[in-house]
Amino acid sequence: MAASAKPRVAILISGRGSNMASLIAAAQAPDYPAEIALVAANRPAAGGLAHAAGHGIPTRALDHTAYPSREAFDAALQAELVATRIDLVCLAGFMRIFSAGFVEAWAGRMINIHPSLLPLFKGVHTHEQALRAGVRLHGCTVHYVVPELDAGPIIAQAAVPVRPGDDPDALAARILVQEHRLYPQALALVAGGRVRLNGERVVFSDGLAPADGALLSL
Ligand code: GRF
Repeated sequence: MAASAKPRVAILISGRGSNMASLIAAAQAPDYPAEIALVAANRPAAGGLAHAAGHGIPTRALDHTAYPSREAFDAALQAELVATRIDLVCLAGFMRIFSAGFVEAWAGRMINIHPSLLPLFKGVHTHEQALRAGVRLHGCTVHYVVPELDAGPIIAQAAVPVRPGDDPDALAARILVQEHRLYPQALALVAGGRVRLNGERVVFSDGLAPADGALLSL
């Protein structure tokens, strides 16, 4: 990456891509410290592809069912990322597990948004999990990606209240609003070099406010 150039970001999606859209919108600001250079999906029908293309962003659909193995899909994706000179990868509703080799190749340069306050409620159906557990706060987390699912070092979190009468859809909607605020902030921290991964810890550079990386919406 040239010293003066913004990091080139690929966003990987599998579906509607509302978090992708929030990243694209944020990156339109001239002072945003990252450029969205590629949107790729493992499902050709992913709704977010059309939105990205409509914003002039190169898109790729790599249908994972067309590849004989996880490694073959990951190699094809890696070739696209290299060809597009990608510096950072954002997973945004990307519903596919990577081979360990792919994750290691992007160590410290690949982040994900997960709809819970990790380390609580990993995996899928996080809002059902939260309601079942009876927590009063729920939320979302942006973290570095490591081989173990939803276990990577945490960059930023946003919390929302669980209200009486909430069902999974109501909770998901309340959290999605915060996801759309949090992910652009977290990517800016990473792309701007203000946080970095050091072993298994996230290191914040000097001068960040204590609240950077934490959002609370009550
Ligand atoms: C979001 O809730 C995200 O946290 C999770 O998958 C969902 C994707 O939604 N990983 P969208 O495609 O960004 O609208």
